[in-house]
Parts: sequence; C-alpha cells; structure tokens
Amino acid sequence: MRITDTSDQWWKSAIIYCLDVETFLDADGDGIGDLQGLAQRIDYLAELGITCLWLMPIYPSPDRDDGYDVTDFYGVDRRLGDYGRLVEVVRTAHDRGIRVVVDLLINHTSDQHPWFVSARRGPDSPFRDYYVWRDTEPPDTAKQVVFPDAEESIWTRDEQSGHWYLHHFYAHQPDLNVANPAVVDELLRTIGFWLELGIDGFRVDAVPFFVEDIETTGHPTGDPHEVLRTMRAFLGRRKGDAVLLGEVNLPHEQQREYFGGEAGDELQMMFDFITMQRTYLALARADAGPLVEALTARPALPPGCQWATFLRNHDELTLDKLTEEERQEVFAAFGPEPEMQVYGRGLKRRLPPMLDGDPRRVRLAYSLMFSLPGTPTLFYGEEIGMGEDLAAHGRMAVRTPMQWSDGANGGFSTAPAEQLVQAVVADGYGPRFVNAAAQLHDPDSLLSFVKALISVRRSCPELGWGTLEVVPTEHPAVLVHRCDLDDSSVLAVHNLSADPVTVPVRLGGTEDEHRIIDLLSHEVVSPEGEELEMALAGYGHRWLRLCRGALLSLP
Ligand code: NOJ
Repeated sequence: MRITDTSDQWWKSAIIYCLDVETFLDADGDGIGDLQGLAQRIDYLAELGITCLWLMPIYPSPDRDDGYDVTDFYGVDRRLGDYGRLVEVVRTAHDRGIRVVVDLLINHTSDQHPWFVSARRGPDSPFRDYYVWRDTEPPDTAKQVVFPDAEESIWTRDEQSGHWYLHHFYAHQPDLNVANPAVVDELLRTIGFWLELGIDGFRVDAVPFFVEDIETTGHPTGDPHEVLRTMRAFLGRRKGDAVLLGEVNLPHEQQREYFGGEAGDELQMMFDFITMQRTYLALARADAGPLVEALTARPALPPGCQWATFLRNHDELTLDKLTEEERQEVFAAFGPEPEMQVYGRGLKRRLPPMLDGDPRRVRLAYSLMFSLPGTPTLFYGEEIGMGEDLAAHGRMAVRTPMQWSDGANGGFSTAPAEQLVQAVVADGYGPRFVNAAAQLHDPDSLLSFVKALISVRRSCPELGWGTLEVVPTEHPAVLVHRCDLDDSSVLAVHNLSADPVTVPVRLGGTEDEHRIIDLLSHEVVSPEGEELEMALAGYGHRWLRLCRGALLSLP
C-alpha cells in the first residue's frame, strides 16, 4: 500500500452516510428539513466518524418520486434552501474532513422538466430527441416495469404527440436518450457545474437502465458503455479525486463491466447488492453459507475501484436477486406481513424491527457489514436504530424524520406535527424510545457502538485495500474472513446463530510471527500454535489484527 494511493483514492477507505435533507433537520420551522439544519448537524456527523456524505436529490422537483424526478439539474429545491446554504454545508463538511457527493439523475427527468414539456409538443421540438419515442404500439413490457404497483408498461402514449415515450420508472419520469450526444453534453455540464460548487462526486442513479436504453436506441460508437467512460474521463479532468458511485443492481459478473473491466475506467464504485441480499439470507438461516458464496464470487476489482457495502438504503430492501424460495425465506424471517412487503420483491423495513429489536443481532449485522471489504454505507438513523413507519406509502416507510431527541417531532422540527413533510415514527421505535440525544452519552448505546466500530474500521486499511480470504471453519453458522495488506491482516469472526460457539481458527504462519490484538476489546490475544480457539457468544463477533512483525502496522 502506498500512502500516495490511499490519499488519492479516498473512497476505498471512506465511511459513507446517506441522508435526505428534507427529513434530517428543519431549521426554519416549516416542517421540511433544510440545508441550514443539515449544516448544524455536520459536527454530529463528524463525531460519528463518517467521511463522506451522500445527499439524496436536492434539485427542484414536483416531488412525485421523493426528488428523483428532477425539473432542473442546475437548481436547488427552494424548500431545502439555496446555493448559499448548500455551499455552507459543503464548506463545513470539508472543514471537518467530510466529502460530499450528490445524486446524479441521468436516466430520466420529471415530465415537468422544460426539455420534456417542449419534447412532447412533437417531432419539431429541439428537445424531441432528448427522450426516447416510438410511433407504433409497444409490445407487452409488464415484466420490465420497476414499480408494478403503479405502472403496467415501460411505454406511455403521450396524448399530445400521439407517440409513446420510454420510462423505466414512473410514467412521470421519461427516460433521457443518452445515445444523443447533445444529452451527454448536458449531463457533462451538470457534472462540471456541481464540481465547481465543491461537490466531490456523484451517486449515479439507475445506471443499467440508461446503458440499456443506449443499447436499444443505438450509440454512435456502437458501445453503450462509452458514455460511462466519457463521464469518468470528464470527471477526472475537472477534479482528479472525484468519484462516481453507481447504482448497478446486477449480478457480480455484469457489474465488472460497469467498473470498465480490467481498464477500470468507468464507475469507481458500485453498491454490492448481491452481498447485501445474501447477507439477509445468511442471517435468516443462521448460516454463513450464502454470504460466503457471495464474497467468494465477487470478481477481482480493477485498481482504484471499490465496492460500497450496505445493509439498508432509502429504497425497499430489494431481494430481487434471490430465488423465489430464498426470497420467501427472508420474507418469513424478516417481514412476514403483506404490509411489510413491496413490489413482490422487497421489504419496506429498517433493520432493528426486522431483527425483533435484538441488540445482539443488530450489532452483529453492523459488525459484519463494517468488517467486509468495501466501503460501508449507512442510511441516516441507522446509527441510532430507527424503525420504519409501515403506515407510510411504499418506500416512504423508511424515510421518516431523523429522531434527534424525545421532544416534539423527535427534535426534527418545531412545526405542528400535521405540517411535517413526513410523519415521525409513532410506535415503539418512535423518538421516545429511539433518539440521538439519549444515546450520545450512553456508552452502551447503539450509537456508541457504531461510533466505535467506525473508529476501528477507519484504522483498518486492510479492509479497504487488502485482499480477502474466507477462512474455512467447521461451524456453518460462523463466518471467518481475513483481509491481508502487506504484513498486516484483520481477521473477523461472526457467529450468525443464537448459540454460543467455540471455533478453532487457523492463523497461518508460526506463533512467533504473530502479535495479535482484539480490535474491539483492545486485549492482546495469545495463540497456542497455529490455531486460535475463539469463543463467541450467541450472535457474537470479534475483530483481530494480526501483525507479522511489521513496523508500520499498529497492533
Ligand atoms: C433509484 C432510486 O434509488 C429510487 O429511489 C428512485 O425511485 C429510482 N432510482 C428512480 O429514480
């Protein structure tokens, strides 16, 4: 590992925190979270230890898909603030060593975007080719729609022009024609604009959908991935250490192509949806097997690239890459009621309620996620164990206001409750029981646990930069994995079952070569011979650092 690499490729050892400004903190009392409120909480985030903030869409929007339906790529939603407030957030975050990435919407706009308003007037509009049209009746595409509760086809007939336009998501989100060089130019200008404002990179929404659209409509160079290479090259020219973190929910082998294959010249990062889904299957079965399969099947990454690991995000917990049988197993374990499920493929729940609020299991899950190679990504409220609001529609169930205190509206806003952008969770996971203030100074709280985990994780370059080996064990419920970097390794052991276990763990090398420290308890561990007998409580976990005489790695 070279220090020059670690400082340039910051995303390989970052801790990402995703939030929606409108539900984080409302500083002006209108019931809607705002940038002014977020600026006041940057110190909370810095103390938590995160190093990268991912802001969900902040652009002007009719808000029919929670901001993922944009009417102006260059604007800030007036409800959230203005450029001045945004720059304050970015400046404060940078001052505390936190980078800021924002959602980048390339696949579609809102149907109220001026481009689409013009395009639907007919073939003579200068923006007609910004979107994808057909003039004949489309085939049945019911299986391709992303939101089957709302749409039946990915084509909708536009009454005005009489033609059909493409939209993989809601009908009010027409897909952009990314095969049109004029559209790519617009997108590059958008990227350039936000970089000039100090933004450090982008979470690129719905990547495979626009690549697929390019395939359908035909790209001038014949290569639909060309657009990703163009974006990446442009990004690098404008800001050398900016990052593209893609939402690419595809099998691992296909994801490889989105890193740019061996060249690694497309997305630097991608969420690992496969490992996430197989983690839930492993937790449901109390069997490490599904997770081992996912981790060992991960393709090798090109240099400079990285996985983003996560347990929950702002969408449903999608289980779409499991088999029907596996999905039903996870549903039965973590969301058996119909009102907990969405689109037939996922759960509209947060982690703690899925695990019956069992603190041992919740901590096990976070320990696991933070110990995997990749960059851990948290969704706001996870650090305090927030629950969901099943009464909220669809994915909005997990997008409730941040719970800061046990005061009115959980300390999120001083507005009357009925004026809030979204209701605060009302049940046993509501602010009375779960809030940041109560946990901040409690050394036994989940918040303190997550903070400690982040701090340990940040001191483990092995996990962001090393090579992974899954260490075989005889116990099916136990995952042992190690990440090696130069002369140092981090070895983590997780017991996915409720029963205590003792597992012999092969260390490799000789006794004399090892200095071992338990990174979570800070105890020195003395192995006897080449194996270490590791005793774990039910749902127990341990992280060890093995130093082989390396001067540079701190035990
Ligand atoms: C993926 C986003 O995560 C989701 O929230 C959104 O609805 C769709 N893309 C459409 O933008």
